[in-house]
Amino acid sequence: MISLKTTFAGLALRNPIIVGSCVLTYKPENNLAFEQAGAAAVVLKSLFEESIVRQADHLIHQADHPEAGDYMQGYLRNETLSEYIDVVRRSKQLCSIPIIASICCRSAGEWVAFAEAIERAGADALELNVMGLATARNYEDGAFERNHIAIVESVRQRVNIPIIVKLGANITNPVNVADRLKAHGAAGVVLFNRPYQIDIDVEQMEYRSAKVVSQPSDLVNPLRWVGITAAAVKGLPIALSGGVQSGRDVVKAILAGASAVEVCSAIYREGNGWICSALDAIGQWCSRHGFFSIGEFRARMSASDADNADSLERMQFMRYFGGWRQ
Ligand SMILES: Cc1cc2nc3c(=O)[nH]c(=O)nc-3n(C[C@H](O)[C@H](O)[C@H](O)COP(=O)(O)O)c2cc1C
Repeated sequence: MISLKTTFAGLALRNPIIVGSCVLTYKPENNLAFEQAGAAAVVLKSLFEESIVRQADHLIHQADHPEAGDYMQGYLRNETLSEYIDVVRRSKQLCSIPIIASICCRSAGEWVAFAEAIERAGADALELNVMGLATARNYEDGAFERNHIAIVESVRQRVNIPIIVKLGANITNPVNVADRLKAHGAAGVVLFNRPYQIDIDVEQMEYRSAKVVSQPSDLVNPLRWVGITAAAVKGLPIALSGGVQSGRDVVKAILAGASAVEVCSAIYREGNGWICSALDAIGQWCSRHGFFSIGEFRARMSASDADNADSLERMQFMRYFGGWRQ
């Protein structure tokens, strides 16, 4: 009997497929449908730090009382924030799989008080999607990375539920950041967030949204960093996100060292049935290769092995160009 059970960020999961944060997970009924389709957990659509702060500022302005003591009460009176709490509560009531709340943030500002309300509403964990582009000319090297640590430290003081950090692929050193996040109390990391992408319409000469859903080729970068980080930062569970389109891709993520995957695009494209067919494919792969559990092959291809490290850390094409096009 093959068991696909795994754990991620201290959460017991019946299999490695987590529905990633996206518009679909903002509806508790959808989350129940994901559970019924076989998903192991759901990450709710993110609430944005800007919304929390903007709404709180608005309330404070209205009250003309900037040092309002019950800042959080003010937050919760606001429609969007109380709606978010309601989505957490109702998802928890409907589902038995873990429900992970999510906040997109840039700083360790006063918004972190809102994390307490999320915990009280019953969320099993909180995922922090730390976003940002270092565009300022006077940007100080490493400031963006240090910011991740400050945010986790600050949220850690407020909540006891596991804190997961979803990193952007634009950080310069995922291994070092993951290591420091672990030391400051993060229970897991997600590699990587897929940010909004832009494209140019050359006829209209306007910026347009690039493809919202990911492509199979998007898997290669997170796969590399999962393989490297899993070997370098022991004891920090990793979920791979970005480009997972099939059960085979889930197997690749686990071989590289992931404990789970966070998937959106494949579910957008193929519907909830994708989860079940991916789980079947993982089971079939396990039986072809004689594995009975995830633990038997997780991180088998991480950089812990010197040959794997050589493949994962290779940056130049030189060796392969010799015979190309012949
Ligand atoms: C329509 C859409 C909305 C998303 N919204 C969020 C969000 O609110 N917060 C977040 O952390 N990630 C968000 N993401 C990113 C996904 O959670 C995921 O990390 C990313 O899409 C890569 O996974 P995929 O290749 O399986 O789509 C969104 C993705 C899509 C496609």
